[in-house]
Amino acid sequence: MIASKSQSNPTDKPLNILHLEDSDADHLLLARALRSSGIVATLTRADDRASFLALMGTHTFDLVLMDFRLPGFTALQAWDALAQWPLPPPCVLVSGAIGEAAAVAAIQTGFSDYLHKNDLQAIGQVVTRALKLHQLQQARAQAARDLQASEQRITQLAHHLQTSLEQERADISREIHDDIGGSLAALRLDVAWIERHAQNPALRERAASAQDVIAHALAATQRIMQNTRPAILDQGLGPSVQWLTQAHTRRTGQPVQLQCQLDTEHALHDAVRLTAYRIVQEALTNISKHAPQAHVRVHLSDAGKALTVEVTDNGPGFDMQQLRTTAGFGLKGLGERAKNIGGWLDISSQPGQGTSLTLTAPLPTPPMPAAQALTP
Ligand SMILES: Nc1ncnc2c1ncn2[C@@H]1O[C@H](COP(=O)(O)OP(=O)(O)OP(=O)(O)O)[C@@H](O)[C@H]1O
Ligand SMILES: [Mg+2]
Repeated sequence: MIASKSQSNPTDKPLNILHLEDSDADHLLLARALRSSGIVATLTRADDRASFLALMGTHTFDLVLMDFRLPGFTALQAWDALAQWPLPPPCVLVSGAIGEAAAVAAIQTGFSDYLHKNDLQAIGQVVTRALKLHQLQQARAQAARDLQASEQRITQLAHHLQTSLEQERADISREIHDDIGGSLAALRLDVAWIERHAQNPALRERAASAQDVIAHALAATQRIMQNTRPAILDQGLGPSVQWLTQAHTRRTGQPVQLQCQLDTEHALHDAVRLTAYRIVQEALTNISKHAPQAHVRVHLSDAGKALTVEVTDNGPGFDMQQLRTTAGFGLKGLGERAKNIGGWLDISSQPGQGTSLTLTAPLPTPPMPAAQALTP
């Protein structure tokens, strides 16, 4: 154990330091320099590769001080070996002259510092700095790991929310269809019967007006069902996007130019179809809110190995930096949806330059013809 009268240890407990050094004299000098700098440490020495690896395998060191050149072994090789350790300690080069280039290269490789053997009086500051830097790096790495884990959890949550939302929509749609739709259809038959059999003209008139109300309610249930769980998707992505664009024009008066080049529509997975549909739906909703005067173009294509869905407008556009702070969830949700099907969403916009949303989703690889599959 190396100790001194004026202790200035950077940690509460004595440090465990490994010294990779082949010279007895230099080892003693370093031990003395540590002592006089106030570092309280247990200094263990390794003088070749085998003893270095053996000590690393059996002990836990707070710091490794390394001479640059050892017989048949260099500090850079020792560093490479250390990189295999799950939590390698910080390393400082304590060596004779190695040249500026080598010192810079060593620091770039990951060494915390370089101290010339003639400057051993500075060992205290160098050790303290290396340990602080290491702590900072570890805290930063931990923060990055925490951030990554939390992003992963958010992605999982978003996926879960999207799935439950679609499931809930499908349930609501089914209930509207079975309960409300079924009851309205039965009511329509009864009212039609009353209209046919009523002798009183006023009663017949009331029944006819009730028929109109029922027809209106039935149309509303169809519309709600279509929006909650687009049954039209069963007819394919092309027809359902066409239905969306036409409904948009009917509602807003804004024309939409649709270009549909889908040859492998039947091969599209249900989830991909639904994602593409929801992206066009949100893009058109955004256009009706944020670019109501714009010209709109929707382009669907499955050329190449991907499905691309592009919705472009020449409206006012927006500053993409705003997206980080905007309260809206539409575009964020679309990005998550695209990820969930293994695709990605490109959003491109600039103030005064319009907006373009592009979904790219990989298409399933077609099965190989049997003869080809058997060819080695
Ligand atoms: N086509 C567009 N033209 C101009 N600005 C747009 C367009 N689409 C989106 N934006 C801008 O991007 C922002 C974010 O859009 P996003 O869809 O995420 O949110 P939102 O539509 O405001 O709200 P939400 O979708 O949650 O109801 C919008 O607030 C708007 O400023
Ligand atoms: Mg929106």
